[in-house]
Amino acid sequence: MKIIRDPAAMTAWSREQSRSGVSIGFVPTMGFFHEGHVSLMRMAGQRNDKVVVSLFVNPTQFGPGEDLSNYPRDFDRDSQLAGQAGVDVLFVPDTESMYPEGARTTVSVQGLTEFLCGADRPGHFTGVTTIVTKLFNIVLPDEAVFGRKDFQQLVVIRQMCLDLNVGVKIIGHPIVREDDGLAMSSRNAYLSDELRESALSLSKSIILARRSVVAGERDVDALAASVRMLIDSYPETSVDYISFFNDQTLTPVARIDEATVLALAVKIGGKVRLIDNSYLMSPEDNQV
Ligand code: PAJ
Repeated sequence: MKIIRDPAAMTAWSREQSRSGVSIGFVPTMGFFHEGHVSLMRMAGQRNDKVVVSLFVNPTQFGPGEDLSNYPRDFDRDSQLAGQAGVDVLFVPDTESMYPEGARTTVSVQGLTEFLCGADRPGHFTGVTTIVTKLFNIVLPDEAVFGRKDFQQLVVIRQMCLDLNVGVKIIGHPIVREDDGLAMSSRNAYLSDELRESALSLSKSIILARRSVVAGERDVDALAASVRMLIDSYPETSVDYISFFNDQTLTPVARIDEATVLALAVKIGGKVRLIDNSYLMSPEDNQV
């Protein structure tokens, strides 16, 4: 596996591949890989001739007081895992080359980013869409794979590509979970044993909601109340949001249908903010 740090060298590599008719699948990441990231890499490899993975902890998507400085990092382990997953290039730019002084342009998507994960993280999605645009322009992929774990991010990026005629096909990958149901996340590394127990309140909420829907419940207020009660029954949990929305528009719904997604954000132990989501009616492949 090649490790490329210089954006110009990355673009040169990609152009050379494209000239010989090779397709490039791309997985943007912030590193500290787990099985979720690795599955995305494998999916990109199954669908394309070559796979590029970027590893860049993007400062512009972190708000003040968030975990940018102590975001978990382990370059040696990451490059080993990417190599084993059959990745051809690990692109690891530094902050100076991605955000040289004097940059004045950002990319933002209106109407899908002001609520859910954008509500108390102003600027987060602009940070995401700006870096993803830059990475697409550097890597020049045919396709990019994103996890449904970050459902809103996936919808926002799809909209951005549509609106700006970005010629990259966006592929969604199901949520990858631990055996006990906890959605994999680099931030799970922050959890002590006791807090990890409380983190299970997210996936347990999804199980509860799906079961209630199977039993005939369609009313969002009733479902939200029982989900909140379940989360509150775990120590050191504080609900950021419990939201039932349409999978295309992300707008709240009052009654459950096939297109309804339940998304949760819960702070565990006051600091670690975890998210999870699931369709409630469709036989989805990201069920807990
Ligand atoms: P990061 O959190 O590192 O995630 C990289 C990709 O892995 C994202 O597409 C995310 O949805 C996916 N992913 C994470 N956990 C997953 C899981 N348990 N199952 C399936 N997919 C999972 O998301 C980002 O980085 C950044 O915002 C980025 C897009 C790289 C822009 O900086």
